[in-house]
Amino acid sequence: MLIVQRCAMLRQLWTQATLLVCHMLGRSSQRLLAGYRNAVGYVGSLAELNSLDRFEWPEVKRYWELRSSYWARSPHDGDPHALQNVCHPGAPLWLNRYYARFQEMAYQALLDLLPPPAPKQRALDVGCGAGRWCRLLYERGYHTVGIDLQPDLIQSNRSRYPHIDFLCTPVQEYSAEEPFDLVSSVTVIQHVPFEEQKVVIRKLRELLRRGGYVVMLENIYDEAPHVFSRAIDDWHEVFEDAGFRNVAIQRYDYSLFIRLYSWLTQPLVSALRPQRSRGKGLTPEELATPRDLKRSVNVTRAIYNLPKRLAVGLDTMVEPVLMRGIMPLPTVHCGFIFQAM
Ligand SMILES: C[S@@+](CC[C@H](N)C(=O)[O-])C[C@H]1O[C@@H](n2cnc3c(N)ncnc32)[C@H](O)[C@@H]1O
Repeated sequence: MLIVQRCAMLRQLWTQATLLVCHMLGRSSQRLLAGYRNAVGYVGSLAELNSLDRFEWPEVKRYWELRSSYWARSPHDGDPHALQNVCHPGAPLWLNRYYARFQEMAYQALLDLLPPPAPKQRALDVGCGAGRWCRLLYERGYHTVGIDLQPDLIQSNRSRYPHIDFLCTPVQEYSAEEPFDLVSSVTVIQHVPFEEQKVVIRKLRELLRRGGYVVMLENIYDEAPHVFSRAIDDWHEVFEDAGFRNVAIQRYDYSLFIRLYSWLTQPLVSALRPQRSRGKGLTPEELATPRDLKRSVNVTRAIYNLPKRLAVGLDTMVEPVLMRGIMPLPTVHCGFIFQAM
């Protein structure tokens, strides 16, 4: 595997062979192989491997606005960071807490690599959701601004964190009087269509002073109508094209047991789920509707979740060890630091 990683020609051969096998075996095997592509540092567009119906940027925007209004109408006891909105909508809170825990570990590990902020340094959190990263940045000493597309979350953030500035706007349309020293963004750009991602990344460069940093966590594996992930090298490439250099990465979300469990139960889930929910012709309205409004009986889900809870328990123990980077295993997400050149 190491040899493949280092040799561009072998990597190209590997890519072509993967594409050919994917084409022959269909989409479920494509997802499996995408994990291996990341493991060997595949450079290229994940869209090549994918025949999903993708949302355009206005549809993605509409999706988040709809999610915002569903969130405003639902009770959010026990979920102060709106994880049910910003992590895996429809997934149980205990599963979203698992993902949030390791997101935070990766985010803090990356922030720890940066010099502590000098007085009056400014940070912007793009796609701030319910403000959990803004709070951490503020606690580290940055003057913090958070922006997001979801009006209801922004409104609630203003009363929860009065010392932080919040604005409801797409980052593409945002401008600031002074440049920022740090821009952070957690699982946001992965939700922007591939071509629009380039606009967003150029905007991040514009918003930063020279030498400033982007701390970002993104998906490097999944694809969906509203998820546009890139392999690690591919993220590096788009950032380099926009005037950044990569300083560090932190893989996370190995989730070995959860993935094993999902892989084992995938045939059953696929058989039970209607074809359209796999991404064919979905509208923002359909995708944004919370699952509990669509389903009246949740008994099957409860049974399905029992062993998944066990998998989450095991991953909670194993994940911190894997995050120390001792094994070259594929992950679903990765954290990055890029510096503005
Ligand atoms: C998966 S959620 C993550 C939220 C938050 N970063 C967190 O980790 O809790 C993605 C968020 O990004 C926001 N978003 C997506 N595209 C955006 C854009 N172009 N500009 C600003 N916010 C955006 C969405 O409204 C949504 O709240």
